[in-house]
Amino acid sequence: MALAINKERSGADMESELAIQATQIVGERFAQLRSALESAGLPTADVELSGRTFFEFTLDGLTVGWGGFEAYGADGLLRSLVVEPVYRSKGVGASMLRLIERIAACNGIDQLHLLTTNASGFFEAFGYHMQPRGCEPIVISRTEQFRGLCPGSASYMCKTLSGSLLPTKSGQLTDDPLE
Ligand SMILES: CC(C)(COP(=O)(O)OP(=O)(O)OC[C@H]1O[C@@H](n2cnc3c(N)ncnc32)[C@H](O)[C@@H]1OP(=O)(O)O)[C@@H](O)C(=O)NCCC(=O)NCCS
Repeated sequence: MALAINKERSGADMESELAIQATQIVGERFAQLRSALESAGLPTADVELSGRTFFEFTLDGLTVGWGGFEAYGADGLLRSLVVEPVYRSKGVGASMLRLIERIAACNGIDQLHLLTTNASGFFEAFGYHMQPRGCEPIVISRTEQFRGLCPGSASYMCKTLSGSLLPTKSGQLTDDPLE
């Protein structure tokens, strides 16, 4: 499955536009995902279990990052967001995050949950709120990440996805509330 959003706008700089493309990871590409996650110190043990969807993000044909989610009905676990080091601090992570949110919303997810050890400021900038550990829905508490893959000190954050992230009647994905 190849999902492309043209002119995906960076949350860091709405004036700049990044044509980020997301391609769902299958087969051999899991090796590259694992390698990227290991380099960033993120968990890899469960990436090929069922219920997970991961994407490779490209910009002008070059791999710029990785990320995905686990779906549990209306709740989703956002995970494994990593930008290749040379592309960091250019708005790539923001574009990837917005794209994952749109794809998650299209998959029926209303609320995204996550754990992070060192990027809470990044997620806060995009509407994620810190919550006490233990407040997460049961389905989220049962995920491998909450049960032990992520350190107990990791911060729990969540965000309710707005209706404007859903596709329009024309089938286009947009965050423009007027469309
Ligand atoms: C966190 C990460 C995905 C951000 O990607 P990025 O492409 O560097 O982020 P962007 O350039 O889109 O930054 C957008 C904003 O978030 C801020 N930001 C980026 N990383 C941050 C962090 N770790 N903590 C706080 N703020 C951060 C940027 O300063 C920028 O703010 P600005 O607009 O005021 O300048 C990237 O640094 C990364 O891959 N880190 C390693 C893996 C990781 O920690 N992933 C998150 C856990 S799942």
